[in-house]
Amino acid sequence: MTIGEIKKPKIVVTPPGPKAKAFITRDHAVTSPSLTRTAPLVGVEAEGVWVKDIDGNVFLDFSSGIAVTNVGHRHPKVVEAIKRQLDYAIHINSCDFYTLPQVELIERLIEVTPGKFKKRAFLGNSGTEAVEAALKIAQWHTRNYYVIAFIGGFHGRTMGSLQLTTTGVEARRHFKGMMQGVYHVPYAYCYRCAFKQEYPDCGLWCVGYIEDIVLKKLCPPEDTACMIVEPIQGAAGYIVPPDEFLPALTKLCKENNIIFVADEVQTGFCRTGKWFACEHWGIEPDIITLSKAIAAGLPCGAAIARAEIMDWAPGAHENTLGGNPVVCAAALAVLDVLKSERLADNASKIGSYMLNRFKEMMDEHELIGDVRGKGLMIGIELVRDRKTREPARKERNELLTSAFKRGLVLLGAGVSSIRLAPPLILTKEQADVGLQIFEESLEEVERK
Ligand SMILES: Cc1ncc(COP(=O)(O)O)c(C=O)c1O
Repeated sequence: MTIGEIKKPKIVVTPPGPKAKAFITRDHAVTSPSLTRTAPLVGVEAEGVWVKDIDGNVFLDFSSGIAVTNVGHRHPKVVEAIKRQLDYAIHINSCDFYTLPQVELIERLIEVTPGKFKKRAFLGNSGTEAVEAALKIAQWHTRNYYVIAFIGGFHGRTMGSLQLTTTGVEARRHFKGMMQGVYHVPYAYCYRCAFKQEYPDCGLWCVGYIEDIVLKKLCPPEDTACMIVEPIQGAAGYIVPPDEFLPALTKLCKENNIIFVADEVQTGFCRTGKWFACEHWGIEPDIITLSKAIAAGLPCGAAIARAEIMDWAPGAHENTLGGNPVVCAAALAVLDVLKSERLADNASKIGSYMLNRFKEMMDEHELIGDVRGKGLMIGIELVRDRKTREPARKERNELLTSAFKRGLVLLGAGVSSIRLAPPLILTKEQADVGLQIFEESLEEVERK
């Protein structure tokens, strides 16, 4: 039996087992200590929703390699497409010359992303590069300088995207010379409103603040290049804004002639039950940034813009490895699988089921302060006290560890949230296995 066929996690030795421990010692001696490492998982094999470690333990993966393996680990059609391309070319260079799958991929991305207008795309190798490209497209086109970004947003770790990123202080500490001219404004994180308002009585003051204060006093529209926002904040804890938020932002941008950039690096490719999260609110961004699930784990990022905005000159922006043929072949297969297996529908169906189950768990477990999500992008925020909403960070970390030891891979996010991002091929039976482990782990934490 392959690991793809198993029904439940298989723990043969409490992780980390002896081989994992030895490997981790080697790793810690030479690998950059900047990596956070949520759990001592030394993965050697993965298939479908399962990941096997070096000691033979098999885990149910509710993280998808941080929302990457949407079509499941090593989907046969993706593997086949990669192997096929390997027989032709691995790298030629798509900036000086032309390579075959790049144009096909761009055409397909243009077709599936929101908006029927003319678009162009720039391909890179990661989410951060997609964001850097978006910033440069907007600045080149407008000749403007200011950028509006949202507190809690995560957009990458290079010096431009890092300046936009405000999920935590660790990622920014000591790094000087980040991009200038970025103004951060509160996101519609209604569970912890920065303005201490209550939705809907607030009248969406977080948008009013941008209109009345930011654009008038700090960041005049005529000097502003773009606004960038995650339709659902990812690293901040899978925060779903109220329905009016994104339409109000796009209206504001339109009225003030500001380019609206949606960072869908984490929300894209059917994760939320639609191809792209913007579609939940009928939003057609001027620029959309993509990565993560785009090529099922091969490095790829894309910035797709209205054609009239992407008007920069030759030499203004390029790279060596973007548009790599093997990566593009994998991405084309991903698009086929998402469509043919109707994974947006499955994400929606299984996601709603899981969301309801987590909401039911709130009746039994005081530690759960908030449950939110769309499709298979579900955030669970743990609190010590539902009234004060004191973050239960220690308990959250204990829950991650307890679930891992039982064979369920989870990721944390924000201060005390858990983010669930299983592969979109997840079945109801597999969801139930994960839900049960989650609840058992929660009970263990509560008993402490
Ligand atoms: C919304 C968003 N944008 C950008 C990035 C950066 O992507 P990468 O880690 O590939 O550079 C991430 C990564 O988590 C992300 O979630």
